[in-house]
Amino acid sequence: MGTINNEEGNSSLNILFDNIRWEEKSIIENAKKNDIDLKAIDCRELVLFLNCENKEFENKVILQRCVGYFKSMHSTAALEGLGARLINPLYTSVMCGNKLFSHMELQKQGIATPNAFCSFSTSSAIEGIKKFGYPVVIKPTVGSWGRLIGLLNDEEAVKTVLEDREHMFPIYHVNYLEEFVKRPPRDIRAIVVGDQIVAAIYRYSGNNEWKTNMALGGRAELCPVTKELEDICLTAAKIFKADVVGVDLMESINHGLVVHEVNNTTEFKNTVRVTGVDIPSLIVNHMVNILKK
Ligand SMILES: Nc1ncnc2c1ncn2[C@@H]1O[C@H](COP(=O)(O)OP(=O)(O)O)[C@@H](O)[C@H]1O
Ligand SMILES: [Mg+2]
Repeated sequence: MGTINNEEGNSSLNILFDNIRWEEKSIIENAKKNDIDLKAIDCRELVLFLNCENKEFENKVILQRCVGYFKSMHSTAALEGLGARLINPLYTSVMCGNKLFSHMELQKQGIATPNAFCSFSTSSAIEGIKKFGYPVVIKPTVGSWGRLIGLLNDEEAVKTVLEDREHMFPIYHVNYLEEFVKRPPRDIRAIVVGDQIVAAIYRYSGNNEWKTNMALGGRAELCPVTKELEDICLTAAKIFKADVVGVDLMESINHGLVVHEVNNTTEFKNTVRVTGVDIPSLIVNHMVNILKK
């Protein structure tokens, strides 16, 4: 039997978390304000019996908001397997959670991405970089907030970083490298809910940082939603069968808009602050609509 361990009983609409950030708090508050019964489930308290024969999770709508990648993906797999409708589904989580997987899917479907390659040894990485030239961007295939993303300026830096990585968890032995995209000192974060692009911001890098992540001191400004931006983001969301995603794009001087990441547990605090769009409410409404289907 699968069980959600809570005293207040089960609800059809649920939010699964491991940390309560601004985003989770605002979603919970929005539901409360609108008298919508949304149950908050702490992932750390879950005991999921995987050979479930009762239908406890069938038709439950669960918004996956765990920050931890492995926790998020595995709890999604378990709950989806037990019959729940996860937002986002396991497919989205697997494909978007890994930059190499999402890169391949996007480029297969004709969405422009930064030029990238992967390799599995230091010598092959150095060989691959010859095509791109320096500087080159190295990224962990799994990660966020700009962590462990490096700008490598020469062969010495490549050797040093890759040697460090050899002593890390095996996922870091996959070398995923991108051409450094020539662009303004900003990128675009666009939020898609259901089949709509609901808001977008420019994120300018701060603190002498080349990365534009807000977690690294980036500054947000309103970004107009053009037809081109809308088409790209809606196609990207569709490719990944996603309900709610944050699509990150750069304005490449040579190639136009390129998608470098699709976030399946996206943060949107700054997007709400800058655009005034009530994203928590749109997410709750989307959950209600899914439940009705
Ligand atoms: N190929 C690239 N060229 C130039 N800047 C990049 C490139 N890739 C990423 N960046 C910058 O680094 C930031 C973090 O990269 P991203 O792929 O979104 O990783 P994370 O998941 O850590 O946010 C981006 O928002 C962008 O500002
Ligand atoms: Mg990003």
